[in-house]
Amino acid sequence: MSKWLFRWLHKPIYEARVSELIKRVSYSVRRGDSLLDVGCGGGELGVRLGNELELKVEGVERFPREGCRIGVTQIETSFFPFPDNAFDHVLVADVLHHEWDDDILLKECLRVCRKSVIIKDHKLDGVLAIHRIALMDWLANTAYGVECIYRYRTCAGWHHLFSRLGAHIVSEITSMRLYPTGVNWLFGGRLQYFAVIEPTQAECE
Ligand SMILES: C[S@@+](CC[C@H](N)C(=O)[O-])C[C@H]1O[C@@H](n2cnc3c(N)ncnc32)[C@H](O)[C@@H]1O
Repeated sequence: MSKWLFRWLHKPIYEARVSELIKRVSYSVRRGDSLLDVGCGGGELGVRLGNELELKVEGVERFPREGCRIGVTQIETSFFPFPDNAFDHVLVADVLHHEWDDDILLKECLRVCRKSVIIKDHKLDGVLAIHRIALMDWLANTAYGVECIYRYRTCAGWHHLFSRLGAHIVSEITSMRLYPTGVNWLFGGRLQYFAVIEPTQAECE
């Protein structure tokens, strides 16, 4: 019952998030491109991206959900069963902060992408940032049984990770209007992070 209530309360917030993310992703892709949705969850975001932006979307998941709305491959580690450059784009939306070894996972994203890796995640910035992100993380994930490790990066931390992996930033958004007004005030804005990165040539070929 409580899980049902959580999901019901979360639905309009998730809907606003999906609409905003589709808009942001649309600037980086072309109709007909392929996209790997890493940690696709129930596939809600992936299926909308496929339909609205006309992308060929498939997912990989550690814990595939019943009735996932896109084709999904289950993985047991952070390594993907795909060759180098297998997809035009890789999307990793609110997944990296669930991984202790986020560098291994992001490196794998860079390996299988031909054009770009699109990252949506959180960013420690502002008053009580860690407490606000941790609460949001728990609220959004508890009903789905997704483990939270409550470890987040600052903007400098993201930049450090990208440069360690030899990737460069194509575009970056450090404050987002992702949720309905009141919710955005508490959990949106500077706590949200979006970046499009590209592998170096060596990573690509
Ligand atoms: C917060 S949900 C995000 C779901 C979806 N990306 C979205 O934006 O709606 C995080 C998902 O990432 C998955 N996950 C965590 N670590 C992963 C990994 N190393 N590889 C693939 N999926 C992973 C979890 O099982 C969970 O479904």
